[in-house]
Amino acid sequence: MSEFKIPAPKQRLRRLRQSEAIRSLVRETSAEVSHLVQPLFVREDGTAPADIPSMPGIRRLTVDEAGQEAKELSGLGVPAVILFGLPSEKDPLARGAYDEGGVVQEAIRSVRHAAPDLTILADVCLCEYTDHGHCGVVRDGKIDNDASLELLARTAVSQAAAGADMVAPSAMMDGQVAAIRAALDQAGFEDTIILAYAAKHASAFYGPFREAADSSPVFGDRRSYQKDPANLRESLREIALDLEEGADIVMVKPALAYLDVLRAARERFDAPLAAYAVSGEYSLIKAAAERGWVDERAIVEETLTAIRRAGADLILTYHAKDVARWRGGNAHG
Ligand code: PBG
Repeated sequence: MSEFKIPAPKQRLRRLRQSEAIRSLVRETSAEVSHLVQPLFVREDGTAPADIPSMPGIRRLTVDEAGQEAKELSGLGVPAVILFGLPSEKDPLARGAYDEGGVVQEAIRSVRHAAPDLTILADVCLCEYTDHGHCGVVRDGKIDNDASLELLARTAVSQAAAGADMVAPSAMMDGQVAAIRAALDQAGFEDTIILAYAAKHASAFYGPFREAADSSPVFGDRRSYQKDPANLRESLREIALDLEEGADIVMVKPALAYLDVLRAARERFDAPLAAYAVSGEYSLIKAAAERGWVDERAIVEETLTAIRRAGADLILTYHAKDVARWRGGNAHG
C-alpha cells in the first residue's frame, strides 16, 4: 500500500517514445547532410603550414588539395563548400581578395573542375588579405565604410567570374549587399546568389579561424562593425536591411550562442535562413572529445538538430564531412 493516493497521469507523452520507429514518426526536426556546407581554407603558399593547432581535423589546403577534398565531399553527399583564401601576401588594400588569379579565385576553378555538381560559396571579406587584419579599408585609424564597398564589390565579381555560385559578404559594412548586387548585375552575374552574413556578431568564437587565417586585427578590434552580442532587435534590423538590399539568404553567426536570434529571425522573415557553427564552436567540441569528456558524434548531432530546430535551413559547419561519414556517406546521389 502506498502512503499517498497518487493519481494516474491523464496524459501519457511517453506513449510516443516507446521505440525508435515511433519516435522517428513524430520527430519534428532533422539535420540532414543535404543541409550542410563545409568550410575550406585554401592557402596560396604551398610551403605554409597545413595544420591548424586549434582546429584538429581541419587543414589549410593547397589549391589542388581543395579540388580533391571537394570531390571527396561531393562523393559523401555534402552539397556545398564555402572557400576562404589565405594569400601569401597581405597589403593595406587587400589586393589578393579581388585578384583574378588570387588564391580563392584559383580554388573556385579547382573545385569546379574536380566536383562540377558541388555548390561553391565564396566568403567576401578583406580581413584575410589586409596587412592590418581589418575587414575594410583603414583611413586615419578608422574603418572607412564607403571606401570598402568598392573593394568588396570587386571581390564578389571576381569570385562570380571564377565560377562561384554564391557570394557571402561577411565584412559587416553598411550597404555591402546593395553594392555587391549592383556590381554583380552590371557585370552580367544576375544569377549569382548572395548569402549575407547579416547578423554577424563581434564574437570570441572566431578565435581559431583567426589563427587559421592569420587575420586578427593588428590594432583595435572588430566591434565598430560586427554587431554587439547583447542586441537582438538590432540583428533583426540587419537582416531586414540585407533583404531589402537584395540578399537571397540571410545568416546568423555564430550559431549555438545565438539560437534565440535564429528563432526570432525565423518568425519574422520568410527568406531562407543560414547559421554558421563557427570555428570556436568546433574547437570546443573537438577539445572535449579528444579528452574523452564528451561523445563527439552525439554532441554534434544534438547541436545541429538544435540549430535546425531554432529555425536554420542551412548550416555552415566544420563538422559537415564528419557528419557525412558518420551517416555512412551517400556515394553521390
Ligand atoms: C571574415 C570571416 C570570419 C569568419 C567568417 N568570415 C572571421 C572574422 O570575422 O573574424 C569566422 C568564421 C569562423 O570563426 O569559423 N570576416
